[in-house]
Amino acid sequence: MIDPKVTVPSLRARKQAGPRIAMLTAYDATLARLLDEGGADVLLVGDSLGMVVQGLPNTLPVTLEEVAYHARAVARGARRALVVGDLPFLTFQISTERALENAGRLLKEGACEAVKLEGGIEVAETTRRLVGAGIPVMGHVGLLPQSVHAMGGFRVQGKSEDAAARVLGDAQALEEAGAFAVVLEGLPADLGRRITETISIPTIGIGAGPWCDGQVLVCYDFLGMYRDIAPKFVRRFAELGDAVVGATRDYVSAVRDGSFPAPEHSFGMAPPRTLGEPTGAAALPEAGPAAYGPAEE
Ligand code: KIV
Repeated sequence: MIDPKVTVPSLRARKQAGPRIAMLTAYDATLARLLDEGGADVLLVGDSLGMVVQGLPNTLPVTLEEVAYHARAVARGARRALVVGDLPFLTFQISTERALENAGRLLKEGACEAVKLEGGIEVAETTRRLVGAGIPVMGHVGLLPQSVHAMGGFRVQGKSEDAAARVLGDAQALEEAGAFAVVLEGLPADLGRRITETISIPTIGIGAGPWCDGQVLVCYDFLGMYRDIAPKFVRRFAELGDAVVGATRDYVSAVRDGSFPAPEHSFGMAPPRTLGEPTGAAALPEAGPAAYGPAEE
């Protein structure tokens, strides 16, 4: 049974009841509306916006205000999906009080229904505090993009037995602290399976194999629009990058050769008035329900 509105409790219940959770990132209202219509369960306003929207090499410079700005837009577009906002680098690590204040801002100003934060045991206390204040928390363990420098790059984590035990411990600490779900990023598939079978909250994988309770992809990756890097774990479900380049070429040549705008895209003058015809507003064509200007005469 697919829930009419995805909520934190309904998402948690999917661990037992299924179906698997399909999460995507979103950064604006128009795409959020389309992804929601396509059935995405969760729309994450990820700090990945630093890379795919702002063109930065990593997520570190993204601010809380930027996530809140994009989250407001996504929340306007979403109907059914749960909207989750990412807490950027240094908005939750400095103190639990700062984390509470910043997470609260994503709910109050960003219209998010939950927040996500990166880290394991070291953020368990903060997670407990946010959950205690009524702020649902999604965890994120394994490859942590905000720790890109500490990790020496975007590298798969948990490959040795010791490292795997640490990531499992991180996921258990978040479960125990009250997180309602946890993202597993960049882990061997077997470790993704082990964590999924061990903890009682849904796991949502990205590059963590097929056995997680759900999957997440960056929307520009799955639509084939972000082509700077092509991680092994991404499947492009469309080639919108090629479609956008092709459409732009067509538009450019239509503008240059004068075939756009055609008569059907152009407006005429009001016909000259003759005696006996209505005057004033009644004589003018009705304005269409236009967003940027009159849609029709
Ligand atoms: O910022 C983001 O988009 C993320 C997902 C990749 C999980 O954290």
